[in-house]
Amino acid sequence: MYDVLLSPPDVGEAEIEAVVAALRSGWVAPAGPDLLAFEQEAAKRFEVPFAVGLSSGTAALHLALVSWGVGPGDVVPVSTLTFAASVNAIRYVGAEPHLVDCDPLTGNMNPAILRAAVSGLVEGGRRVPVIVPVDMLGKCVDYDAIGAISSEFGARLLCDAAESVGATYRGRSAGSFGDASVLSFNGNKIMTTSGGGMLLTHDGALADHVRKLSTQAREPAEHYEHVEVGYNYRLSNILAALGRVQLSRLEEMMQRRRKVRDHYRGLFAETAGVSVLDGNDDHEDNCWLTALVIDPDAAGFSAQELAAVLKDAGIESRPIWKPMHQQPVYRGLGATLDGSADWLFQRGLTLPSGSGLTETQLSRIDQAVATLLTRRL
Ligand SMILES: Cc1ncc(COP(=O)(O)O)c(C=O)c1O
Repeated sequence: MYDVLLSPPDVGEAEIEAVVAALRSGWVAPAGPDLLAFEQEAAKRFEVPFAVGLSSGTAALHLALVSWGVGPGDVVPVSTLTFAASVNAIRYVGAEPHLVDCDPLTGNMNPAILRAAVSGLVEGGRRVPVIVPVDMLGKCVDYDAIGAISSEFGARLLCDAAESVGATYRGRSAGSFGDASVLSFNGNKIMTTSGGGMLLTHDGALADHVRKLSTQAREPAEHYEHVEVGYNYRLSNILAALGRVQLSRLEEMMQRRRKVRDHYRGLFAETAGVSVLDGNDDHEDNCWLTALVIDPDAAGFSAQELAAVLKDAGIESRPIWKPMHQQPVYRGLGATLDGSADWLFQRGLTLPSGSGLTETQLSRIDQAVATLLTRRL
């Protein structure tokens, strides 16, 4: 239905050659040298000593929580403005997610609200073993502030960096913060392995345990021996071959996405009431998705009207994440909210941001926007 997509995979001949070479090498059974090399290259690039390649970002979130023994009776504060996977993983282990509102300037977890939430929970006698902040659309959360809160309350930090691969925070790489971080290489992300994810950590014991859990928790024995429940979550060698090429192109793909963002900034520069969601400073963001925030009274059109015009022109756009406290599946969960996520969901729209967007496609977007701006006059 759409011929200009939000964030399609950007793969070319180099990726095709790498996948074919991996197939030809005979390492078709899940593990293999490309997987090991991908882990080493990613650990170096994202500034951690340990990386574990997994079948998805969701699997990485799940296994970190399993490995830490998080379970029933535990409460895990998590961003309400996120993709459902961040919260689902908490549910998989039987713990209770507690939804935390965001800073309306960035969409990222608001440290003041997190602090109020955790101190209320702890005063109420609840155990808070882990906090899960989410790097929204490619911007890191305020790790200094959130890290201080996790230390104060003795909670681990599991950083959902699924969307911020390649970004930095105060000069340090996304994925290198907290007790562990999770990356996603899903097909819509800034770099892809088709489907895949990774756990990054400074804790070698955690990395070893997650790797073991991801391969059915097999004990070192000739026969199949198991003392704990395992999972089939390992990234395959073939997909890792694709990931290695994508990783080598990460800077180029980020630069391209930044150009697309700058294009949109220029396009709406003269339009009152329209701004790019970037906290007024995106120099460290990976620019994965560019979102506009539209004040309909000042702009003369709403995010929904812009989405409709783009759709008529065959151009995909999507509202910012529908907050988890508004999702039927998660209604009734404990939450500490101030209305910011609701406000952003109402006014925010993500635009085509892929690194493979062509000049012709950008011109088509410009034309569709011009139709709306003219109609408004
Ligand atoms: C914030 C966030 N967390 C987790 C995930 C899950 O990653 P995956 O699709 O690789 O399971 C995604 C994206 O899909 C995401 O955007």
